[in-house]
Amino acid sequence: MKQIQVVTNDVLGTISRADIEAFDAAGKDGLAKLTNGTGAGNDFLGWVTLPQETSTALLDDINATAASLRENCDVVVAIGIGGSYLGAKAVIEALQSNFAALEPSKGCRVVFAGQNIGEDYMAELQAYLSDKKFGIIVISKSGTTTEPAIAFRILREQLEKQLGREEACKRIVAVTDAARGALRTLATTEGYKTYVIPDNVGGRFSVLTPVGLLPIAVAGYDIRALVEGAAVMAKATLDGSNTLALTYAQTRNALYKAGKKIEILVNYNPKLHFFAEWWKQLYGESEGKDHKGIFPAAVDFTTDLHSMGQWIQDGERTIFETVLSVESSENELRIPTDESNLDGLNYIAGKRIDEVNKMAELGTRIAHVDGGVPNMRIVLPEISETVLGQLIYFFEAACGISGYILGVNPFNQPGVEAYKKNMFALLEKPGYEEATAAIRAKLG
Ligand code: PA5
Repeated sequence: MKQIQVVTNDVLGTISRADIEAFDAAGKDGLAKLTNGTGAGNDFLGWVTLPQETSTALLDDINATAASLRENCDVVVAIGIGGSYLGAKAVIEALQSNFAALEPSKGCRVVFAGQNIGEDYMAELQAYLSDKKFGIIVISKSGTTTEPAIAFRILREQLEKQLGREEACKRIVAVTDAARGALRTLATTEGYKTYVIPDNVGGRFSVLTPVGLLPIAVAGYDIRALVEGAAVMAKATLDGSNTLALTYAQTRNALYKAGKKIEILVNYNPKLHFFAEWWKQLYGESEGKDHKGIFPAAVDFTTDLHSMGQWIQDGERTIFETVLSVESSENELRIPTDESNLDGLNYIAGKRIDEVNKMAELGTRIAHVDGGVPNMRIVLPEISETVLGQLIYFFEAACGISGYILGVNPFNQPGVEAYKKNMFALLEKPGYEEATAAIRAKLG
């Protein structure tokens, strides 16, 4: 299997090898806490051995459900938010054509809902679905999250109007807690096909459960290869033969200690845009607590070199970059020769577009490192299911280790409740009467 690599040479102008090694003990301790379950949040460590433990029977079942949805639907709407959305979105976007939205190449089209409360978004989605055969995968671990609940109520009503309740039921799959939550109750009452999100796997670590696997399979991608890639990385990380997660966790903590408070995840391939969104949630929700934590940001290069490039080159020196560097692109396309050369491009005629992209990447790296921006690289041999599986597990393991190095509980997210309490109070949700009175008094 082609392996990912981590390259840290270009942080050495800012921190030394010794600065990174100073986190050796804390890194090993963090890894031990993940493997032994002795750290904070240890009731959410199901993801640690999940890839090796995912049964063939479960993968077969998910593939069969996906095949049935693909056969009966032109479009499947995956409803979910946060960890119940970003993993599937990240993997599908990484694997599919950039223009899949215009012309799906594989499987049936997967679109997403419930990841915002945009009225136009929902209305436009309804209009789009009005003349299509569609199905729904509704995903919520708690089963009570407002955004997906609203989307599901609206789309379920639309599907039932289009097909009748009995037929609609056959095209709805729910992924939720085994026993708790409104979605579980609804699924049981209506008789939907369901998958369980294990209790000990938190939302942002759930992409390799049915949360991510079902939408990815519906989109036509190989979930066995994805899980296999993750399992290879998991085994090697846990037995100590692969230290990439440790290296990344220790290096970013050494940079943080040196005042680098913002990590920018960079890609040079637009297919990885949503992978960065997934990564932002993983690290932001895991580490941003107790008034600590690296702020995870992301840019798409070279696009954003023409917008954020100035800030990164010359702005406040509180940042470091981690580049997702893809070795080989799927297609080969060369720049043609033009006799008139009016655009002055003949000096690169005959070169692959990817070669130009690589030179942009190298040139940017040199410029940013010279400008005081330490740079790490995560080298992906290609974008494929096995490589993405490795990358997912690598980032998850490093996140757990890094959170423990930082001294936080990487597996809770108490801060996300504050906005919900205010929203419920403002919407006068039963049970929030006191909060409604308090917020009204505050608003005057
Ligand atoms: O990581 C998390 O736990 C959160 O981001 C959740 O994934 C998100 O809030 C969605 O929650 P749920 O799956 O319960 O609807």
